[in-house]
Amino acid sequence: MINIGLLGLGTVGQGVVEIVNSSQEELKKLVGEDVNVKKILVKNKDKERSEEIPKEKITYRVEEILEDKDIMVVIEATSDVEESYKNIRKALEQGKHVVTANKAIVSKYFEELSNLAKEKDRAFLYEASVGGGIPILKPLKEEIALNDISHIQGILNGTSNYILTRMFEEGLDYGETLKIAQDLGYAEANPSSDVDGYDTQRKLRILSTIGLKGEVKENDVLVRGISSISSFDVEQIKKLGYTVKLIGETNIIDEKFTAVVEPVLLRSDSYFANVNMAFNAISLEGNNVGELKFFGAGAGKLPTANAVLKDVIDILKGTYRKKNILGSRKLKNRNEEIKGKYYLRISLGSGEIPEEIKGLAEKILDPNFAAITREVEFQEVDKLLANLNIQDEKYFLARIQD
Ligand SMILES: NC(=O)c1ccc[n+]([C@@H]2O[C@H](COP(=O)([O-])OP(=O)(O)OC[C@H]3O[C@@H](n4cnc5c(N)ncnc54)[C@H](OP(=O)(O)O)[C@@H]3O)[C@@H](O)[C@H]2O)c1
Repeated sequence: MINIGLLGLGTVGQGVVEIVNSSQEELKKLVGEDVNVKKILVKNKDKERSEEIPKEKITYRVEEILEDKDIMVVIEATSDVEESYKNIRKALEQGKHVVTANKAIVSKYFEELSNLAKEKDRAFLYEASVGGGIPILKPLKEEIALNDISHIQGILNGTSNYILTRMFEEGLDYGETLKIAQDLGYAEANPSSDVDGYDTQRKLRILSTIGLKGEVKENDVLVRGISSISSFDVEQIKKLGYTVKLIGETNIIDEKFTAVVEPVLLRSDSYFANVNMAFNAISLEGNNVGELKFFGAGAGKLPTANAVLKDVIDILKGTYRKKNILGSRKLKNRNEEIKGKYYLRISLGSGEIPEEIKGLAEKILDPNFAAITREVEFQEVDKLLANLNIQDEKYFLARIQD
């Protein structure tokens, strides 16, 4: 019998238990033994748990998992960062394999945990941390063997994509759409990491570090979110024949790369313009393979748990990549070269639009103020807005993709 310890019994943890229970025969055929979720760590003692989960499996003491010699694989599916990071470290140190869905931990401790796993000759896998149910990291790890990846682009956050889709389809305002997304469970009570772009930043950092075969840190990725978009912006953008998506994008030429997360105006017939609701999509460009596209459910109980369990199967079959995935290429960040034409809307109430802002415009869309800018640098616009003391919520800025 293969015993698994599960940290967390929320959306993902419950999905893991559900698939393990419903796929007993298939799992036995694949790995040659019964697979059993032996213990489940949770935090809140007052929370009611599903009756299908035997009470004796639930624990509030992580030692019951980490010190159990019969537990071979630990699945980390909590919403916590620091405590769970320590538990992942301890699990690897105890000689257990680890699978996690937690992109915040992977992004923050990617190099450290990958190196520890290598040192301990154990697996540290995290397929579900990027793209939810989409198989993207394993194919990417395979493609880098023979390819230099020059371009990574993706819609990596289902919550912001859901909000933008509904705003464009129904003309709703941002606030009401966010509320709907929260009521339906697509957005969290505090939506900042999704709508301000930080979740996409973490996923792009993970994809880029693997794809570029060298370290791309979180702060190597410039970030701009969607939380200041208004129904007025949607109207203007539609009139121009575009839609808008929150896009993460990395490009590399020689050893110099740029990495950015920002809202992008796309022609309605482009690939990413047609990725709607909570779906995710990623495209890669390799020198041999050319362009590859991946599309699917970026989150959700069963898709995410499916990705987690595929990592577990790879571990149990011994088919996971044992070589350390982190490359040693020395990369140079060139984000100061990111530039383009932007859609810019500023709302200053009764305040005058500063001349410096008007000077950015190539075409004025509304005198009060919306415009298409001439070609400008991402950081130049940021600096100008900051120098003029124009707060984030007073403007919406989105790059126009040719
Ligand atoms: N939901 C998705 O579709 C999805 C997709 C991809 C990746 N992920 C990632 O997967 C992870 C889990 O997501 P989720 O949606 O399942 O979260 P969730 O529904 O909020 O559940 C989190 C679970 O973690 C437990 N927990 C939190 N802090 C803990 C701690 N310090 N010690 C022990 N248990 C703790 C909670 O315990 P209680 O039950 O006692 O509160 C709960 O069972 C997150 O890192 C998320 O980013 C989620």
